[in-house]
Amino acid sequence: MATRHFLTLLDLTPDELTHLIRRAITIKNGLKTHGPTYTPFSNRTLAMIFEKSSTRTRVSFETAMAQFGGHALFLSPRDTQLGRGEPIADTARVLSEMVDAVMIRTFSHAGLETFAAASTVPVINALTDDYHPCQLLADVMTWTECRGSVRGKTAVWIGDGNNMCHSWINAARQFDFQLRICCPEGYDPDPAILAAAGERVTILRDPQQAVDGADLVTTDVWASMGQEEEQARREQAFRGFQVTEALLDRAAGDALFLHCLPAHRGEEISETLLDDPRAVVWQEAGNRLHAQKALLEFLLLGRVE
Ligand code: CP
Ligand code: NVA
Repeated sequence: MATRHFLTLLDLTPDELTHLIRRAITIKNGLKTHGPTYTPFSNRTLAMIFEKSSTRTRVSFETAMAQFGGHALFLSPRDTQLGRGEPIADTARVLSEMVDAVMIRTFSHAGLETFAAASTVPVINALTDDYHPCQLLADVMTWTECRGSVRGKTAVWIGDGNNMCHSWINAARQFDFQLRICCPEGYDPDPAILAAAGERVTILRDPQQAVDGADLVTTDVWASMGQEEEQARREQAFRGFQVTEALLDRAAGDALFLHCLPAHRGEEISETLLDDPRAVVWQEAGNRLHAQKALLEFLLLGRVE
């Protein structure tokens, strides 16, 4: 059987993704009830290549492997031959000889695809400049835990048409919900990714209008990793796109707020938004652990009911 990778949400079928969300909730409940007694990965190893910073992604993957009875290796380009120019494909072939799966956080999505094409073990996208699919597993899991099936619901993305926005677009396709995107002009998502989502996704310019009656609101930093020099210009462009309690008041009465974190209070969110009961961001962050356990289990062991 061909090796399955998880480079975007489109690598799994809608049915497989729905299964993963259900499975993540089951794994989470099992951990709460019985502690880390489910250890299907005895002696299995996940290599984790980080070319960008991380708190949640590193800790959740490393903890997932430890609790599953396996092991995770943290690899940074500073300390490996990747940083000294060893070709990506050669690294993929070498790691495939030793480990059971590879997780990569990097800049270029094409570079990740090159790695995956040469790898004979599953490769997981832990964020590229273009996508962050693991975050969406945790986000859809959180939305499902709090409000039931997301099918037919309406989410709103406020802010930059970035990697997270692209993964929200793919999530709307795969989980069958409506997505309104509200970006300042010049910061829209990739037109091809948007076009592929058809009528499930619409672009709006006015945050008040975008949020009206919505079931979920989400945003992200205005300047992503690698865009630090654009911070001042982006602060100007995104003025008026801050998510506040008052903006959320225009959404449905039971609306939720998500943020992948890290958050910049006073920029994309108000100083106090994360204290609002509609914000479920700590549950969302914690769900990275459970959602990625379900993903690793699926990629290494196949569908477990
Ligand atoms: N949300 C997220 O991926 O966080 P980290 O950058 O801390 O991994
Ligand atoms: N868009 C952000 C997400 C961080 C988890 C970034 O790429 O920096």
